[in-house]
Amino acid sequence: MIEFDHVSLRYADGTQALHDVALRVPRGQFCVLLGPSGAGKSTLLRTVNGLAKPTQGSVRIDGIVMSPATAAKLRRRVATVHQHFNLSPRMSVAGNVLSGLLPAVSTTRALLGWFEPRHRAKACALLERVGLEPVHLRRRAGELSGGQQQRVGIARAFMLDPEVVLADEPVASLDPRIAHDILSLIRDAARERGATVICSLHQLELARHFADRIVGMRAGKVVFDGAPDALDNAHVQALYEAAPASGHDGSPQLGAVPALAA
Ligand SMILES: Nc1ncnc2c1ncn2[C@@H]1O[C@H](COP(=O)(O)OP(=O)(O)OP(=O)(O)O)[C@@H](O)[C@H]1O
Ligand SMILES: [Mg+2]
Repeated sequence: MIEFDHVSLRYADGTQALHDVALRVPRGQFCVLLGPSGAGKSTLLRTVNGLAKPTQGSVRIDGIVMSPATAAKLRRRVATVHQHFNLSPRMSVAGNVLSGLLPAVSTTRALLGWFEPRHRAKACALLERVGLEPVHLRRRAGELSGGQQQRVGIARAFMLDPEVVLADEPVASLDPRIAHDILSLIRDAARERGATVICSLHQLELARHFADRIVGMRAGKVVFDGAPDALDNAHVQALYEAAPASGHDGSPQLGAVPALAA
């Protein structure tokens, strides 16, 4: 269970990115964050791995409050899938997947490539799980297509059997068919392990298809929270309709609107 307990976050320059967000995401849920650019989706995700610190309120993972004292331990339970994959392009596919162990093994071991056989076996099994053939194992990650790179990113994310998977627009740079495959992989791999997923998306149709629950955000606030079926056109319009000019209140820009037609 991830609990956002009245989380507000103001960046150093005065931008109020989150405003009193109160949510409980139960174990195993696939929760999609929807909302226009600047709504605070990425910021909310970053509070879960401790990369952004609430100025008010707190985030708890299974009852433990994210704080400097608990961050290192909690981070091992949280994995991230990135929009731009964030692989080491010159490193092999296998090396990238094994790097998912970094929070748990010493950097020296990792740099020298000293991974135990069970870790290598797990990396291979995960690569198979995400549909990458063994022929790719020794290729440099940077040589793969975007969809293949994201498969590697997912395999890496699952190396430490995370309880929570954060995915920030994981399919934004992929074509629609691949996007569907990648979201299926994240959902199914998480389901098999009982992991919770919080995933930000800009594509309404994908959100409706994959989410157990949709949280609509606008200007740092939760403005919709419910099952995909409950999100009607009026909600969508309210989520994305033109807002007053963006300022220090974190009002959204309208960059996301065209994606609604997808
Ligand atoms: N490091 C930062 N310093 C100051 N302001 C920031 C920082 N990161 C984000 N912001 C601001 O906080 C607000 C929320 O940004 P955030 O990136 O969380 O939105 P988002 O919903 O993820 O948007 P997008 O859909 O474009 O990714 C925006 O007004 C943004 O400009
Ligand atoms: Mg974002």
